[in-house]
Amino acid sequence: MASSLRRRLLTTLCGSLLLAGLTLAQPTAAAQAAWQLRWAPEASTDGLDAFEGVEDDRANSHPEGQPHIFVQDNNFRFNMHMVDRDSSTDRQRQEVKGMRSPAGGDYLSLLKGQTWRFTQSMFIPSSLKATTTFTHIMQMKMPGTDTAPIVVMSLRRYSGVPKIELKVVGSNTLVGAVDLDPLQNRWVDVEFEMKIDDAPNGWVRWVVRNGTSTVIDASKSGVDTWLDDRVRPKWGIYRSLGDTSGSLQDCYLLLTNMRAYQLTSAPSADYQAENATISQGVVESNHTGFTGTGFVNYDNVTGSYVEFTVDAAAAGSATLTFRYSNGTTTNRPMDITVNGALAVDELGFAGTSTWDTWQTVTRTVALNAGTNKIRATATTANGGPNLDKITVS
Ligand code: GCU
Ligand code: CA
Ligand code: CA
Repeated sequence: MASSLRRRLLTTLCGSLLLAGLTLAQPTAAAQAAWQLRWAPEASTDGLDAFEGVEDDRANSHPEGQPHIFVQDNNFRFNMHMVDRDSSTDRQRQEVKGMRSPAGGDYLSLLKGQTWRFTQSMFIPSSLKATTTFTHIMQMKMPGTDTAPIVVMSLRRYSGVPKIELKVVGSNTLVGAVDLDPLQNRWVDVEFEMKIDDAPNGWVRWVVRNGTSTVIDASKSGVDTWLDDRVRPKWGIYRSLGDTSGSLQDCYLLLTNMRAYQLTSAPSADYQAENATISQGVVESNHTGFTGTGFVNYDNVTGSYVEFTVDAAAAGSATLTFRYSNGTTTNRPMDITVNGALAVDELGFAGTSTWDTWQTVTRTVALNAGTNKIRATATTANGGPNLDKITVS
């Protein structure tokens, strides 16, 4: 994902952290965006209770073939027979819809402004072929029958060549298409991310992996991924009978390792310098304008430092904002290390005109999941500035 897009995704969301069966602790401190697992069904134990609804031959066109949708080993299996018909008889449908967490419990609502990631392993046998008219194997839809899907993953023939593609339907935006043949008769992994919003704020990403090789990793921003109410995924086989390539036959689809993650961000956290570990410096409060209970007056020597202990919910980048004063006209640079490694070399802390005047300097650094030691060490004989706090966001 382009880093500008990634950054844009980092700005929103807060969410409750229910996942299949247990509740995650809130992220401890750092305000990094993090993917929270919200849905993780196991076919063998959760069965079809993982889903909000099961459309197994909903027109009852082929009772002898039921169930068409069932658990096989630890997979969800969707059978499609030539005789199967949906309520509209020009098409066939065996689909599950929506997610429940825990199994049989509450529906997960996907709402405007949220960002979600879906992953799955999928087995497409050679009998499930690409067609000249639609064969959808995943849909993002607004519930109800009135509206077209928002996003579809489909098996489609391009001038006779079978492809798997991802499309944003409203704008007919093709996110990507790759050859289907090498992906059949084996387990392949699919990842789909979606920022749910009206254009131009909607955004999708589609990744297909065949073993360790990434077949496609494509994104489209500026698209419309929101209609109204909520977004509900559907999986299975939904296909038109209008295929003219002779590609329709009895077939099936297997899905497993289905997961849904929501991008969430914790609030930014302040770490007061006066509460941090101080080497060659003193806590004072004799200048105005500080936050907390004071600030650290670095000893005016090379090597004086303040070290903060910062907990991060997940590995990734975090923005550090240093609030400081420097009543001199001389820069007081400091090296910023994270867990002992130099992250910012001689970060400048320029004069702020008086010791009562506070300014901020901001840098982005990489944090590990869990505890991180962030140290700001004076690199000149003048020592550091007076340091009030850092904010991690
Ligand atoms: C002054 C000021 C201190 C500051 C020091 C310095 O003494 O009151 O807060 O730390 O200058 O130059 O470092
Ligand atoms: Ca000082
Ligand atoms: Ca302070």
